[in-house]
Amino acid sequence: MEKRTNSPYPRIDRPVLAVVGVLLVISTILFARNDREHEWRWYQAEFKRLVAEKFGPDKAKTVPAGLQQIWIPSMAKADRCVTCHQALGWKGFETADEPYRTHPPEILKTHPPETFGCTSCHGGQGWAIDREPAHGPIEHWNEPLLGKQMGEEYSLSDNKAALMQMNCNVCHRYERETKGAEAINHAKKLVNEKGCRGCHVVNGRGGTIGPDLTFVGDKEAEQYEYGRLSGQKTSFAWHVAHFKDPRALVTETVMPNFNFGTKDAQALAMLVLSWRKSPVPAAFIPGVPDSEPQTQQEKADEERMKNGPGGWFVKTGCFVCHSVTSLGVKSPAQIGPDLSTAVEDVQSRFGRTLDDFLREPTGTMSVVLSRQIILSPEEKAVALQKLREAYAEHEKQKAAAETKTVPVAARH
Ligand code: HEC
Ligand code: HEC
Ligand code: HEC
Ligand code: HEC
Ligand code: HEC
Repeated sequence: MEKRTNSPYPRIDRPVLAVVGVLLVISTILFARNDREHEWRWYQAEFKRLVAEKFGPDKAKTVPAGLQQIWIPSMAKADRCVTCHQALGWKGFETADEPYRTHPPEILKTHPPETFGCTSCHGGQGWAIDREPAHGPIEHWNEPLLGKQMGEEYSLSDNKAALMQMNCNVCHRYERETKGAEAINHAKKLVNEKGCRGCHVVNGRGGTIGPDLTFVGDKEAEQYEYGRLSGQKTSFAWHVAHFKDPRALVTETVMPNFNFGTKDAQALAMLVLSWRKSPVPAAFIPGVPDSEPQTQQEKADEERMKNGPGGWFVKTGCFVCHSVTSLGVKSPAQIGPDLSTAVEDVQSRFGRTLDDFLREPTGTMSVVLSRQIILSPEEKAVALQKLREAYAEHEKQKAAAETKTVPVAARH
């Protein structure tokens, strides 16, 4: 048996232990008080009171008390928003103030909260039980609440609640249209109309002149170059400014200025930021990857043009960006000029022959011909010949139009 004096604990520890003990007691008391001061208790009491007032005390007893959460293992989410937002499924609180308001019911029919939680649509920090950490902004937050307040801060020109649609589209990205995500739908239409895929891969399809955009929403805010951006330094603000005028931010870029207004630029910024690697399991994603196929009409048009006199421009891929009207080729996007008159235009625009331009192109075409469509010298000779044919045809049509007689060859 060891003697007490040989105790491994030096004597000095006793007072220290005593102090630690007292501190523990104090902190427990403080903790308990702090917990009692959580605002959610107050909101729950108030909601109970509102229910009692409207439906009587018996009904009020059915209002759940204490911390509430929706636990969705497949998404690794524990959303505690319902601790305060208790009115969600209650009828009769449609006009109450938040957090006591009935949730718009339609959207929850197709997305029951038991399966979808709250943050998959709204953003916010699901685990938080105080309003500020739940909604943000707080330091190191991962997921801001994409609500009206943030819409105000981002000066959304249209629907202040539209930012949430970014989250809708994390799941609905493969649909051409999603009811309730109008800003995103508008942006998807623009992407098709303006031919962004002429230069960018999206969902596995498109050109390589610009970066692949399939997961551009995962790019960290710190990775953007804000040097030329005035105002807010956020990825959203960067994209809005870039869409309004790409060259204002990236001086050397060949991305065209589409003259987008604020509403278009904001919708496009939401769309591209929604293109993230999905944090949700495949079962939550409606539509099939790469299910943005060409419509029947688009397919038929392409086939017809391929077999027409301008077939070479279609097969080679020039028609992604250029129409060649004189040969019946109509580009879906028309990013570059009509090539019917290239012979003449290159001379007047660049002071060079077309032959010379194709050998040493500048601007967009230098990127196109070095990265997307690589042509051998022989193929460049063919290109030159085809462009001359297009020009000859153009001249013929012009002459015919001027004499107002339609030659047999052009009639069909
Ligand atoms: C499938 C997506 C989706 C899910 C899941 C969802 N909501 Fe909503 N929520 C919406 C939509 C859409 C609106 C209407 C937004 C608008 O246009 O004002 C809305 C509105 C709200 C509002 C009113 C906001 C306002 O601007 O007035 C609150 C609060 C809210 N939801 C909380 C929740 C909570 C809490 C949960 C989890 C139990 C939840 N929501 C789950 C889509 C969703
Ligand atoms: C501690 C209580 C509390 C918690 C937890 C809480 N909220 Fe709220 N929420 C409120 C209150 C109070 C308001 C009304 C005042 C305001 O807008 O900040 C509100 C308003 C909202 C609004 C409308 C405001 C806007 O900007 O559009 C949305 C949406 C919302 N909450 C969603 C959520 C979501 C999602 C969560 C979970 C991540 C959550 N809330 C967690 C108390 C809470
Ligand atoms: C976590 C993934 C996810 C999020 C976030 C999400 N949805 Fe959905 N949505 C689904 C799934 C899964 C279905 C069911 C699809 C089915 O039945 O084929 C669906 C169905 C729908 C439908 C019904 C489609 C139909 O054919 O009837 C609409 C409309 C819709 N969602 C709109 C929205 C809107 C608007 C938002 C954002 C406020 C949103 N969704 C957010 C996954 C999601
Ligand atoms: C003629 C080719 C071309 C067309 C057409 C084009 N882009 Fe770009 N885009 C580029 C190039 C090159 C870059 C890289 C330099 C820069 O940031 O401007 C770029 C950059 C981007 C970026 C930033 C990517 C990042 O990682 O930072 C986005 C987003 C984008 N484009 C979206 C679009 C959308 C949407 C459209 C259609 C409305 C479009 N682009 C049309 C060439 C193009
Ligand atoms: C990704 C889009 C894109 C593709 C694909 C493309 N071009 Fe271009 N091209 C442009 C743009 C944009 C211009 C306008 C000049 C600029 O912005 O630098 C242009 C300019 C030209 C010009 C100068 C015309 C003028 O009037 O100034 C010629 C010639 C040309 N392209 C030929 C071709 C040929 C031939 C092909 C196919 C082998 C092709 N392009 C494919 C985007 C494209």
